[in-house]
Amino acid sequence: MWYKEAFSDRPPSTPEKEYQEAMTNGASAAAAPMKAGLEDVVVSTTEICFIDGHKGRLVYRGYDVDDLVAHSNFEEVVFLLFHGRLPNRKELEANAKTLSSTANRKLPPKLIAMLRQLPRKTTPMEALRTGVSALSAFDPDAADNSHEATLRKSMRLTAQLPTLVAAWERIRRGKAPVAPNPKLSLAANFVYMMSGKKPTELAAKTFDVALILHADHEFNASTFAARVTAATLSDVHSAVVSGIGALKGPLHGGANEQVMLMAQKIKDPAKAEAWIRKAIADKMRIMGFGHRVYRVEDPRAKHLRRLALELGKQAGSTANLEILETVARVVSTEKHIFPNVDLFSGAAYASMGIPTDQFTPIFAMSRVAGWAAHVLEQHGNNRLIRPRGEYTGAIDLKYVPLANR
Ligand code: ACO
Repeated sequence: MWYKEAFSDRPPSTPEKEYQEAMTNGASAAAAPMKAGLEDVVVSTTEICFIDGHKGRLVYRGYDVDDLVAHSNFEEVVFLLFHGRLPNRKELEANAKTLSSTANRKLPPKLIAMLRQLPRKTTPMEALRTGVSALSAFDPDAADNSHEATLRKSMRLTAQLPTLVAAWERIRRGKAPVAPNPKLSLAANFVYMMSGKKPTELAAKTFDVALILHADHEFNASTFAARVTAATLSDVHSAVVSGIGALKGPLHGGANEQVMLMAQKIKDPAKAEAWIRKAIADKMRIMGFGHRVYRVEDPRAKHLRRLALELGKQAGSTANLEILETVARVVSTEKHIFPNVDLFSGAAYASMGIPTDQFTPIFAMSRVAGWAAHVLEQHGNNRLIRPRGEYTGAIDLKYVPLANR
């Protein structure tokens, strides 16, 4: 099994060993020692994504994410995730055309009208969750859960999410949504729909790289949520809504917004060291650090750090990045907890004028491809995902009539 090879150079922790022994001896899962938060529990095989948490390596369908950042683009990565192999030229062009077509990118006018009914204070993640759920009602394949229909819906969702994110940004600012431009790549078109202006080459490249880096990450919380939903034989829209709900939390995708709020609180790079030392002394949880799987720096962080620096220089201020670099140096040395993907992405987006509460929706715009690939894989070899809970409550209580309580 791939995971046995991957973990073979790491001695299992005591609970992990006990668990493995209990399972080998034919004991039931309920009898094996329980690890909070399903830590290190392998719930399924997958051919989509591999993480080596000790070496800091991330691989999509066999290809190192560093190579994909250097040579690929998001449209190609979507094909790779959905089909399990790199496309040839013809397939790549066809895939990019499907993702860029106005028919697939545009939102139904009734959905735009629905978004306009939302209170202006609705956060972008709430608007996205609501919008994706509503998109299902307009989808021509809604009732069809075949592989082909799920693939079509997955392509449409990947094409529609940037339009939805940008439309809500415009609507909440009292502006009209900008129609998608089929001549632009998915990344460039997103920047265009947000601002109404064609992006610089660096802005488009940054978004493309950010989309590649966030596209999949094995059995992370939101993907697991999406797979649990898919495993009931529910549809891809429902699974993506589950994924969005799980991504929103500050311990997962919501951390990138919290990182920027921390940088704004610190404000001055000269004050960063004292601020973070006090935060550590106060036992604060520092957003953008730590990971359930990585024991070293997240391999995605270096790319986002580089882009944040380039964009900061172009925008005339690298203050946010300087703050985060100081925070990273102190946290890594003092706590041996290292930057994750969420530490530097926000600094890059902020240099482009993207509001902080849009950082997590941007994450979702990319991860939708991973969620959908996992739905396709789950449906391809399905069994209901239904774990057990260890009951620790009372039992055999005598019912007390209301009058006697
Ligand atoms: N700041 C301070 N301490 C931390 C941090 C952190 N960011 N991360 C872990 N720790 C400490 C905990 O306090 C705990 O210490 P203790 O054993 O002395 O109590 C120990 O490390 C283990 O922490 P857990 O929360 O049990 O580790 P877990 O694997 O459950 O958590 C998580 C992983 C949630 C990502 C955690 O590192 C965290 O909260 N990070 C901040 C939020 C964040 O950046 N999330 C994004 C992750 S990447 C992604 O989802 C896209």
